[in-house]
Amino acid sequence: MTLIERNFSAVCANELLQVDRILGKSLSKRKPANLYSPAYYIIESGGKRLRPLLVILSAKAVGGKCSDAYYAGAAVELLHNFTLVHDDIMDNADKRRGRLTLHVKYDQSTAILAGDSLVAVAYENLLRNCNGNAKEIFNDFTRGLIEVCEGQSLDKEYETKSVSLAEYIEMIRKKTAAMLQMCCTIGARLGKGNDEEIKALSAFGRNIGIAFQVQDDLLDITADEVEFGKKIGGDLIEGKKTFLLINALNKAKGKDKLKLEALVRNKGINSSRIPEFRNLYEKLGIIEDARKEIKKYTSLALRSVKVLKYSEDREMFSWLAESLIKRIK
Ligand code: IPE
Ligand code: IPE
Ligand code: MG
Ligand code: MG
Ligand code: MG
Repeated sequence: MTLIERNFSAVCANELLQVDRILGKSLSKRKPANLYSPAYYIIESGGKRLRPLLVILSAKAVGGKCSDAYYAGAAVELLHNFTLVHDDIMDNADKRRGRLTLHVKYDQSTAILAGDSLVAVAYENLLRNCNGNAKEIFNDFTRGLIEVCEGQSLDKEYETKSVSLAEYIEMIRKKTAAMLQMCCTIGARLGKGNDEEIKALSAFGRNIGIAFQVQDDLLDITADEVEFGKKIGGDLIEGKKTFLLINALNKAKGKDKLKLEALVRNKGINSSRIPEFRNLYEKLGIIEDARKEIKKYTSLALRSVKVLKYSEDREMFSWLAESLIKRIK
């Protein structure tokens, strides 16, 4: 890490401490404990805190104060954690951030309700500080939430349907990128950015979000389980239409193609067969395809932040994008 990168990293850690303080105040020790202890369980289990970071960096990049973005940062992290809790029920996942998922640790009703409370507490935090932009910010936030639900609905529908690459990109734009776009837009509004800046940061969030989900699909098969904190091969077990599976279905021939089609027909595979499918993806060049796609959307994201006034802010976003490409979790 260069000195500048170390500085970026220290700035981010410092700002995120403030968000964590608000998250703790919002949920820990809140009553009734049957509702809020499970909600706090997911929040305190960590995570990269990427979404609050995007809010804060976007506010700063348009000349605003980081401190104006702390409550919104907490709000987007709460909303994100709600999507994770419900996503893990939908995906039959039993591990997240290296711990048992909420519905496994407690039970399904507890997890559903804890998820609901995270949305409510998210709105509660967002209300605390909108820097005079309440209507626009609530609109962006609600739009982000609607798009996640629509994207998650497509994700389920696509498990049993033949899907093109274009349909996949639109699905991940909604289920993942819309929230990252929303974080950048809200941050830019809190920092009182002009229309051009809001548009540029919003495009950054959208494209980095698409790259982020393709990489999540890739990590499902290439990551180390302890680092990643989620079960490796979970997407194959569930028969998810990931970037990897769609491209493999397009490229494979003969026996390989039949094997992939059987996976779809059987709605997934047994976990003992994960290495076999990883080898097949490698043989077909799918891992490389995914890396290229991640780079493509990351470059698109970085192109849009060229309009930012200060080189330090542009460099900060480049550093962030590079760190995301290198991520192992
Ligand atoms: C996981 O998001 C869900 C996806 C959109 C892939 P993150 O990878 O940001 O999860 P945490 O918050 O760091 O655990
Ligand atoms: C994430 O998609 C989408 C969300 C809206 C949470 P995934 O289902 O791939 O996320 P992980 O891999 O479980 O974190
Ligand atoms: Mg999932
Ligand atoms: Mg999912
Ligand atoms: Mg995933």
